[in-house]
Amino acid sequence: MQLTIDNLTQQFGSVRVLDQLALSTGSISSLVLVGPSGGGKSTLLRILAGLDVPTAGSAQFDGTPLPRDDAGLLSYRRTVATVFQSYNLFPHLSARDNLILPLVHVHGLSREEAAARIAEPLARFQLAEHADKRPAQLSGGQNQRIAILRALVVRPRRLFLDEPTSALDPEMTAEVLDMIEALKGSGTDFVLVTHAMHFARRVADEIAFIGDGGVLAHGTAEQVFNHGDNPRVTAFFDKVLR
Ligand SMILES: Nc1ncnc2c1ncn2[C@@H]1O[C@H](COP(=O)(O)OP(=O)(O)OP(=O)(O)O)[C@@H](O)[C@H]1O
Ligand SMILES: [Mg+2]
Repeated sequence: MQLTIDNLTQQFGSVRVLDQLALSTGSISSLVLVGPSGGGKSTLLRILAGLDVPTAGSAQFDGTPLPRDDAGLLSYRRTVATVFQSYNLFPHLSARDNLILPLVHVHGLSREEAAARIAEPLARFQLAEHADKRPAQLSGGQNQRIAILRALVVRPRRLFLDEPTSALDPEMTAEVLDMIEALKGSGTDFVLVTHAMHFARRVADEIAFIGDGGVLAHGTAEQVFNHGDNPRVTAFFDKVLR
């Protein structure tokens, strides 16, 4: 994917959360957004995922601007997938049905086609033995991996992840991060918001540091972590990498 953002502004009431944000990436498969709490990462990710419309400005993936009208946004959202910190699985359904039902009801597959499509990914991520359990019978890490699988089996053009591990214990975090790392090179591009800096370094083709409503640093992990010449960026990394 190649992402270009121009003059992106998002205002809630009198508060300007994103202020003429600009970014132009190379042709990459993963972009990681980092930065201080309240800096605007989730706000930006929601716009890129087609969940919110910015006050002003534009963003383009591979030269195609994000739609602003309802019909355009609806069809855009069907081509991408989003995973949040809280995995939002249906509590009364088995893991298997949580995967199958969106394929049937949103993407028009038959139940048989949907069952066939999820079988291999369930096995690949060691989740087949848990497929008939409901979310309450699964660990947080297992639930989040099901939620990521649910996003993947619709074969999205790209995946948006907002702090997918921040509600998990360290041990469960590792299994979810391994799963995200496996996306690299599998042909699914992603934009990830994370506070896990070592993981960001491992999976990011490029990192954008979001703060004060804009991009305060941007480049490869090495460039952003080691050569930030912005004092806000340096102070942040001094704190979190210590
Ligand atoms: N719908 C909204 N209405 C009003 N203010 C909002 C709304 N959404 C976000 N904000 C404000 O915008 C700012 C940026 O929020 P955002 O959630 O994008 O930050 P973040 O970088 O994701 O932070 P964190 O790391 O804590 O998740 C915050 O001050 C937040 O209170
Ligand atoms: Mg956030």
